Amino acid sequence: MTKTAIAGYMFSNESPESADFYREIVDGLSTLPRTIPPKYFYDEEGSRLFESICEQPEYYPTRTEISLLEKHVDDIRVLAGSDCCLVEPGSGSCEKVRLLLDTLRPTVYVPLDISCEHLKSAAAGIAADYPWLDVHAVCTDITSEVSLSFIPAQATPVMFYPGSSIGNFDPEDAVEFLACLAQIAGRGGGLLIGVDRKKDHEILQQAYNDAGGVTAAFNLNLLERANRELDADFNVDAFEHFASYNSAAGRIEMHLISTRKQTVNIDGHCFDFNAGDSIHTENSYKYTDEEFTTLAEQAGFTPCEIWSDSDGLFSLHFLRVS
Ligand SMILES: C[S@@+](CC[C@H](N)C(=O)[O-])C[C@H]1O[C@@H](n2cnc3c(N)ncnc32)[C@H](O)[C@@H]1O
Repeated sequence: MTKTAIAGYMFSNESPESADFYREIVDGLSTLPRTIPPKYFYDEEGSRLFESICEQPEYYPTRTEISLLEKHVDDIRVLAGSDCCLVEPGSGSCEKVRLLLDTLRPTVYVPLDISCEHLKSAAAGIAADYPWLDVHAVCTDITSEVSLSFIPAQATPVMFYPGSSIGNFDPEDAVEFLACLAQIAGRGGGLLIGVDRKKDHEILQQAYNDAGGVTAAFNLNLLERANRELDADFNVDAFEHFASYNSAAGRIEMHLISTRKQTVNIDGHCFDFNAGDSIHTENSYKYTDEEFTTLAEQAGFTPCEIWSDSDGLFSLHFLRVS
């Protein structure tokens, strides 16, 4: 673990090793259906591509969630209380939290992300722009055990989990992850979370198949990353992006489809693909408010408030640890 500290700003690096990426990709490609965990999308290039996805006209979640945060920030302040500490798993560019900071005035802000360089610059930007705020950034895998011993005892932790990232977990894993957030927040602590709703399938199809091809580039970057970091020899031109709504499962699925018969080598391991074979790279579950509330209750939260846009695309939930 490495640490960097300047007044009001601390950065700790507990990021996974590249050996974990190697092990998980080899394991994921060795069994059917072939998978690669979505957390590996986010190297520096993947984080940059994700930000570009957020700007695509078809990708409604980011702008919808931003408008909900702007509209309801005063209500959020009342629920968060006067002495809160904001902890943001998967903080990305840390842009959304900027909509909360001046109103909530937390004592500490703790962004957590797996994409180290991106986190470093985003968190340093927050520390520079909000000199009154203590920023303690941790580069870590939030699905592993995270200990935040530096949260002040008198502060009420409020977990901030925007971006509908909860949809990347299967529902049972989502309950387990939410229970971990509840444990970090402790009794009386809060959770402000963005959840993408079930909706017209065409809107979903378009959001994950933008005309600019940015989501496709984001998906394919996973293979480029394996070539860069793991001595793999994926022919990226021989795979294509595929995203589709699986209505039975209530989720968007993203895959990389082999366009021809080919063999891929990853540091001595060979993987054979026929044309049409898939690597499943991401799920993004969509929830009605009732479905999400049920999951959150199983994880130990009590719902307090739900805000949604007039088109019913996206919901922002505030919940409290029971
Ligand atoms: C969908 S983006 C959302 C970013 C931001 N929260 C937003 O709402 O725009 C997911 C973020 O979570 C991070 N992430 C994904 N899996 C992670 C993991 N297992 N541990 C830590 N961070 C993770 C990514 O690096 C990325 O910044």
